[in-house]
Amino acid sequence: MKLIFLGPPGAGKGTQATGVSSNLRVPHISTGDMFRNAIKNQTPTGLEAKRYMDAGQLVPDSVVVAMVKERLAMDDCQNGYILDGFPRTVPQAEALDTIAKIDVVVDLDVADEELIARLSGRRVCLACGATYHVSRLNGETKCASCGEELIQRKDDSAETVLNRLNVYHEQTAPLVDYYQKKGNLKVIDGAQDMDTIFESILAVVKG
Ligand code: AP5
Repeated sequence: MKLIFLGPPGAGKGTQATGVSSNLRVPHISTGDMFRNAIKNQTPTGLEAKRYMDAGQLVPDSVVVAMVKERLAMDDCQNGYILDGFPRTVPQAEALDTIAKIDVVVDLDVADEELIARLSGRRVCLACGATYHVSRLNGETKCASCGEELIQRKDDSAETVLNRLNVYHEQTAPLVDYYQKKGNLKVIDGAQDMDTIFESILAVVKG
């Protein structure tokens, strides 16, 4: 099963992809996580991506497409995968069309006001990738999964969140129409509680 999780920043793509990936036993491929790892390891790709990410801008298509092509050629992708955060532009979607046939595109639909509240309160664990919201942490500052310190992502600052939302509306939202025309788009109300969204996603992908 080859899936794309589409949606604005903060829609819950990463949260849902983690659970759906274990349920379907396919890898969760997040281009944002791949770039954050590359930054941590100070690779040339990481160094190039950092300045775009810190500003809330998209990394150039050529860099992202090369990285994803390499990842999808790996053995663990042969039975399917969940793409989280890719494609994000029409040229990226066109490049993906040349290498894969996607079964379902799940679009998590959430209003901007809710996204701003989610992102400004998000805390993440850089060690294991777990994601939390301050409203549910009760003052806890360590990761419940691995015990490491939780941090706020640099691109979750108020100004950068607004840039990311603008970039989403200008460059990524056209993909909703792109996949609607292909006939494999499933829109899910991403403002519901996490468990309801999870069940809705499984229902549409298992059809
Ligand atoms: P990336 O890491 O992909 O960021 P994003 O798309 O902006 O997505 P987020 O991770 O912010 O949100 P999410 O939808 O995963 O939400 P989450 O589950 O965490 O990309 C970062 C950067 O890398 C980009 O800006 C760009 O520079 C670069 N990049 C990456 N891919 C690229 C590409 N293809 N092309 C070019 N550049 C690229 O949830 C958010 C919060 O909400 C959490 O606190 C969570 O607990 C909470 N939450 C989740 N679901 C719910 C719910 N149902 N109800 C209440 N709270 C919820």
